Amino acid sequence: ESTTELDLSSLEAGQAIKATFRKQPVFVRRLTSEEIAEANAVPTGSLRDAESLADRTQEGHEDVLVVMGVCTHLGCVPLGAAEGENKGEYNGYFCPCHGSHYDTAARIRKGPAPTNLVVPEYQFTSDTTILIG
Ligand code: FES
Repeated sequence: ESTTELDLSSLEAGQAIKATFRKQPVFVRRLTSEEIAEANAVPTGSLRDAESLADRTQEGHEDVLVVMGVCTHLGCVPLGAAEGENKGEYNGYFCPCHGSHYDTAARIRKGPAPTNLVVPEYQFTSDTTILIG
């Protein structure tokens, strides 16, 4: 299928789900207020791939972070979307293949990955439903 529809109504703050979009993993996380504050506390200009959390989320839904679960280094699937997985040193996602650490906005902070985890095109079709693609 070319699009993926996801119901986020049971996704609580601090939880993430893994889904599939065009045969690739996609992670959807509902950020806690602490995770949002952590992301917003970083001066964007200091980042390898300078994007703010607002650049990477949709207006009115700053707590919903949708990213491809594909490391931008060599394409491994990062950890951190499932309960208990290593989220890395910046509390987001961690790629165990060569040690890339992503922050709570899934921005690259340490390790070889050149860019942030990719935010796919998507839209909210209701308050609790997104359509990716
Ligand atoms: Fe993720 Fe190399 S593929 S760090």
